[in-house]
Amino acid sequence: MYTTELQKVSALDNSLSADPPELVAAFEARVAADAFIEPKDWMPQAYRRTLVRQISQHAHSEIVGTLPEGNWITRAPSLRRKAVLLAKVQDECGHGLYLYCAAETLGTSREQMIEALHSGKAKYSTIFNYPTLTWADMGAIGWLVDGAAIMNQVPLQRTSYGPYARAMVRICKEESFHQRQGYEIMMTLANGSAAQKRMAQDALNRWWWPSIMMFGPPDDNSPNSAQSMRWRIKRESNDDLRQRFIDVTVPQALALGLTLPDPELKWNEARDHYDYGPIDWEEFYAVVRGEGQVAKERMSARVKAWEDGAWVREAAAAHAVKKAKRNAA
Ligand SMILES: [Fe+2]
Ligand SMILES: [Fe+2]
Repeated sequence: MYTTELQKVSALDNSLSADPPELVAAFEARVAADAFIEPKDWMPQAYRRTLVRQISQHAHSEIVGTLPEGNWITRAPSLRRKAVLLAKVQDECGHGLYLYCAAETLGTSREQMIEALHSGKAKYSTIFNYPTLTWADMGAIGWLVDGAAIMNQVPLQRTSYGPYARAMVRICKEESFHQRQGYEIMMTLANGSAAQKRMAQDALNRWWWPSIMMFGPPDDNSPNSAQSMRWRIKRESNDDLRQRFIDVTVPQALALGLTLPDPELKWNEARDHYDYGPIDWEEFYAVVRGEGQVAKERMSARVKAWEDGAWVREAAAAHAVKKAKRNAA
């Protein structure tokens, strides 16, 4: 679902010492000219490592992100809602697969990436370590979490690594459907009974700040951003994207008749942007450290799904062998 905020805080190895300077210079000139870097092109080791980490974390986030929503498929309030949520969750699994494929072009294997996730070495977006308590959370997640993901991901369609950029084009199209399905749930609840409206407000209260944090730490506290911007892996700063998200989302909340849980939120005529209150970065770093409310449940559900699905992978592999033999004959 997302470029995770974790990518933005994980250490980027800037050491280029093992890379021949003339190759680095040629690479940087290509990137500066906005050319795409392709799998067989030469690239600095740190560029490759950064991309493997970023793309695989992004893939893991897509897959782990289906857990809080999958939780509600059987409890959706109507057949229509169930079909829509099912389609959305299926899209997210597809996003995970495109991204694992993109990462594989950099020389890592699917097994290595999955192993890193399941052993806790690899990270995924902290947003999925919050619980989904009511049906309104399906609305708030689509509207805010997928909305923030779109803000993060639209610039990635022009990221410098070709396979990643192309995966993002398709993903972004599907994300805009996700955002709308979430907003439509919120609209229905906000115009429903008093209890439904309360449910929508409660979901907004719980998801607003975590969504804002999805853009990662402030620019002056995001040491790796400069190198990622230089290599055009990243195309816009955390704070710029965060501001854009807030500016777009506040009027949507007002249209719902809901209140954003930030008393300092105010339109600033001079800046031509909304001002917003301080972000609780302590909470953010606690969730990054794995202290999220449902972090353990998420990982054990993920590992169980992987183990329960082993027979499917084995059957598919056996079928492929049989088919290859038949074709050879
Ligand atoms: Fe997604
Ligand atoms: Fe999505």
